[in-house]
Amino acid sequence: MAGSISAWHAIAWSFNCHTMVIHSHKELIKLAKDILGLHPEIIALSGPLGAGKTTLTKEIAKQLGITENIISPTYVLETEYKIPDSDKLFIHIDCYRMETLNELIRLGIEKRINQNNIIVIEWADKFPEFFKKYSTTYVNISLGGDENERTIEIV
Ligand SMILES: Nc1ncnc2c1ncn2[C@@H]1O[C@H](COP(=O)(O)OP(=O)(O)OP(=O)(O)O)[C@@H](O)[C@H]1O
Ligand SMILES: [Mg+2]
Repeated sequence: MAGSISAWHAIAWSFNCHTMVIHSHKELIKLAKDILGLHPEIIALSGPLGAGKTTLTKEIAKQLGITENIISPTYVLETEYKIPDSDKLFIHIDCYRMETLNELIRLGIEKRINQNNIIVIEWADKFPEFFKKYSTTYVNISLGGDENERTIEIV
């Protein structure tokens, strides 16, 4: 099973559009590494409540060497962490409670894009027009048939 996912993965990747089904933490780690390998300015996450956006964000942070506990910024809207051995920041934003794009802009992230910081945004599909301006990797997570299954689409 894992072998067939990898083969599909390699083909889809080369077309720059990628759909895969994951079932395990091991596959989530691989996904986090693959996303970082694309070097996006913004990682825009979408998917329903409980899809796994924060879980994936935590794994991305871990891959960057961040050891702090990543907490969901649903109420504070934004949290940031220093990426070890670099002068870059890992910035985690949650748009769930935002009603207008202005609320996102008011966080001042535009200044921090293009500084090689890594910005992960949950519920990014609320403001799709904003992300078009930047080098963005879109990751949509859908719930699957069992509690650990997730379908991931990356564009
Ligand atoms: N393959 C998987 N990938 C990600 N999470 C998974 C997977 N399988 C099970 N889960 C579980 O699903 C839950 C996802 O919760 P999480 O808080 O990450 O979702 P979320 O998309 O951030 O939700 P919200 O919209 O409330 O912010 C976690 O309990 C996680 O352990
Ligand atoms: Mg979340």
